[in-house]
Amino acid sequence: MILVTGGAGYVGSHLVMALLEAGKDVIVFDSLELGHIEIIDILKKYGNLKFVQGNLKNLDDIRGVFLVNKIEAVVHFAAYSQVAESVQNPQKYYYNNVYGTLNLLNAMLEFGVNKIVFSSTAATYGEPVYTPIDENHPQNPINPYGNSKLMVERIMDDYDKAYGLKSVRLRYFNVAGADSKSRIGEWHNPETHLIPNVLKATPDKKFKMFGTDYGTKDGTCVRDYINVEDLAVAHIKALEYLQNGGDTNYINLGTNEGNSVKEVFAACEEVKGVSIPLEICSRRAGDPATLVADNKKAKEVLNWIPQKDLTDCIETAYQWEKVLKRSSK
Ligand code: UFG
Repeated sequence: MILVTGGAGYVGSHLVMALLEAGKDVIVFDSLELGHIEIIDILKKYGNLKFVQGNLKNLDDIRGVFLVNKIEAVVHFAAYSQVAESVQNPQKYYYNNVYGTLNLLNAMLEFGVNKIVFSSTAATYGEPVYTPIDENHPQNPINPYGNSKLMVERIMDDYDKAYGLKSVRLRYFNVAGADSKSRIGEWHNPETHLIPNVLKATPDKKFKMFGTDYGTKDGTCVRDYINVEDLAVAHIKALEYLQNGGDTNYINLGTNEGNSVKEVFAACEEVKGVSIPLEICSRRAGDPATLVADNKKAKEVLNWIPQKDLTDCIETAYQWEKVLKRSSK
């Protein structure tokens, strides 16, 4: 059985769908603070899924999962992930993302489970010193969120040396899109990410474009948008890599392509077929101008190549927005 922490959240739920469709038995552990029970109910239709509500900050909650289930490997998503919030409330981020992970790792060690795929982030690199960013780029996070993820990466290195715990840390760039059959998708409250915010804009609540004075091709920030279904495939390949005896590793997940905020906005207008209400605003604090992945290592180590492009991301996100709107979520 594969344990997925945070499997009721955005990226986690897409991995769970892919695992279930591949015939794997899955157990999701999620506090439901940010995840949604409705997503679990949908996922349950697609295979053998067990759900446990619990919080990683309580060691007994997660120990209980290992006590009664035979876990082969873990994929760990459960974390807070909002950069701005992490700056205002670092305690919340370190306590949840670092201490919570320590409890998970303690339980793994106690029950002899030594394989984990960890949801890390491009935020561990901090302000880029060159682009595209490869895995050897210095890791100097510029906010507590990135720090918390980097701390976990370092802890995993030390646990490998001392206890033989094997990890693959997947450093995501900008995850986007939804399930191609619109069964699940991105569902954050409040929503801070670019594509859903552009798609949700109305004349009363215009899309706010943060900063048009960056030193980029059109003055707006450039990001590498990686499709959430492509991302799920990479996690399955990372699990297989560990199950085949692969050593601890760290791998970027991105497309090698950068798109500006203006380009994404135009592509959303194209997909919706209407003009989207827009308000140009000043820069949002802490946004680097350009973040683009060098994704060669993912191909070399995992034989993973992203299949979907920005339009796929926007089209699936748009279909999912309609589902959310119909159910007024
Ligand atoms: N943006 C807007 N308006 C919005 C939302 C976003 O203009 O309403 C802009 C941002 O300023 C940024 C770009 O769109 O230039 C992308 O912003 P997102 O919030 O979608 O994504 P980020 O690049 O800020 O964040 C992503 C992940 C984080 C991770 C971070 C690492 O979502 O989890 O990359 O830098 F921490």
